Amino acid sequence: MEPLHNKHFSTAKLFVLTGLLLLSVGMIFGLGAAAQYILPNFLKQQLSFEKMRPLHVSAVVFWIIVAAMGSVFTYLQQYNGKKLRFPLLAKVQFMIFLITIIFILISYCFGEFGGREYWEFHPFLAMPIAVGWILFLINFIVSLGTLKKQPVYVWMWLTGIVFFLFTFLESYLWLLPYFRNNIINDMTVQWKSYGSMVGTWNMLIYGSSIFLMEKISGNKEAGRSPMAFVLYFTGFTNLLFNWGHHIYTLPTHQYIQYVSYAISMTELFIFGRIIYTWRTTISTAQRHFHIMSFRMLAAADFWVFLNLVQAIVMSIPAINVYTHGTHFTVAHTMGTTIGINTFLLLSFAFDMLHDSDVQMKPSAFVLIRFGFWITNISLLVFWLSLIFAGIAKAHWQMSAERTAFNTMMEQLRPYFDTVLNAGIVMIVGFLLMLYPLVKNLFKAYLRTED
Ligand code: HEM
Repeated sequence: MEPLHNKHFSTAKLFVLTGLLLLSVGMIFGLGAAAQYILPNFLKQQLSFEKMRPLHVSAVVFWIIVAAMGSVFTYLQQYNGKKLRFPLLAKVQFMIFLITIIFILISYCFGEFGGREYWEFHPFLAMPIAVGWILFLINFIVSLGTLKKQPVYVWMWLTGIVFFLFTFLESYLWLLPYFRNNIINDMTVQWKSYGSMVGTWNMLIYGSSIFLMEKISGNKEAGRSPMAFVLYFTGFTNLLFNWGHHIYTLPTHQYIQYVSYAISMTELFIFGRIIYTWRTTISTAQRHFHIMSFRMLAAADFWVFLNLVQAIVMSIPAINVYTHGTHFTVAHTMGTTIGINTFLLLSFAFDMLHDSDVQMKPSAFVLIRFGFWITNISLLVFWLSLIFAGIAKAHWQMSAERTAFNTMMEQLRPYFDTVLNAGIVMIVGFLLMLYPLVKNLFKAYLRTED
C-alpha cells in the first residue's frame, strides 16, 4: 500500500481532476441541451442542439473514461505497493487524452463532425485515443507483474482495458465498405460495440469499487471469494452478449435476440444477489456513513437497484419495441451513467482526496452532505420525468391517431420543464460536492510545489 498521507499529486490524480472538470463542463452542456427542448431557439446560432448534445455526451463519457483510468492507476499502485513501472508513459498517455479531448470539444463547436452517435468527432481523432489506450494497457500489464493468484478486481481491470480497446476499434468498423455497405450489418455491429463498451468501462469501475470496499472494510477476502468470481463471469458474459437488447428492432437473426435476451436475464442473478446483500450494505452504510466515499457507494447501490429494474423491463422485447428511441432509453442511459458510474467514480475521487495530506474544514463536509442529498433527490425527479416523457412518446409512436409531432412535443412540455429544473438543482448539488474536492486537490498539489 502507498502511504496514506501521500503528498505527491500524481498523474493518476491528474486524470481524476481532469475528469471532474469534464463532468462540470459536460453538465453545463447538458443543461443547454435540456433548455433547447423547451426553447428551440436558445443559442441556436452559436451552439444548436446538434452541437450541444455531442458536447454534453462526449464530455461526460470522457469524464467516466478518464476518471476510471486515474482510479485504476491509483488502486493498482495501492494494491501492488509499488509505483507504476513507466511513470513517463502515464504522463504521455495523459497528455494524449487531454489534447485529443480538447480538440474534440473544439471541433464540435465549429460543427466539425464525421463520426457516429456517441463518438461524433472525426474518425481521425479516434487514433490518438486508441494509442493512449494501448499505452494504458502496456503500463498496466508491466506494473502488475504477474497474473497468478490475483483477486477479482485485477481481472476486472485487465478485462476492461483489453476489451475497451477491442470494442472501441469495433465501433469504427463502419469505416470499412464491407460493413458500411450493408445497413443491417452496419447497425448491428455499431450498437453491439456500444453495448459491450459500456460493459468494459463498468469492469474498470466495478473492479475499483470492490477494491475500495475491501480497503474501507479491511476484509481482504471479498475480492478472492468464489462468489466474487461468479459475479465477474456473469458480468463478463453480459459484456460479451448482453448487447442484443440494443438490436431488438433490427431484422437480424432471431437466435441472436433470444440468446441475448436469456443473457440479459442472468442479470437477475446479480439483482437477486444485490437484494440479498442489501441488509448488510445498509447496516455497514450506517456505520460508515460519515466516510464520504462510503456515502457515494451507498448512493450507487441504490441506483443500481432502480436501474436494474428498468433495464430488465427494457430487455423484454415486447416492451423494448415501444421504448426504443424514446426518453425512456435516455432515462436508462443517464440513470446508469449518473447514478451508478458517476457516484462510484466520485467515491474513488473522495477516497483519493483522503489520501492527500490536506484535511477539509468541517464546513466543507456540510456543503458536501447537502450537495449529496439534493443531487440524489433531483436525480430521482429528473430520471422519473424522462421515464414519463418516454412512456408518453411511446404511446404517441404506437397510437392509431396521427397527432402531429409538434403537438406531441407540446404535450411533453411539463416533463421537459421538470427535467430542466431538476437538472439545474442536480448541477448545483454536484458542484457543492465537487468544489471542496477540487479545491483540496489543488491545495495538495500546491503543497508539493513548496
Ligand atoms: C453526471 C452527469 C450526466 C451524465 C453522466 C449524463 C449522461 C448522458 C448521456 C450518456 C446521454 C446520452 C443519452 C442517450 O443517447 O440515450 C445524455 C443525454 C442528454 N443529457 Fe445528460 N448526463 C448528465 C447530466 C445531465 C444534466 C444535468 C442535464 C440537464 C440539465 C442533461 C441533459 C441531457 C440531455 C438534454 C440529453 C440529450 C437527450 C436526447 O438526445 O434527447 N444531462 N446524458
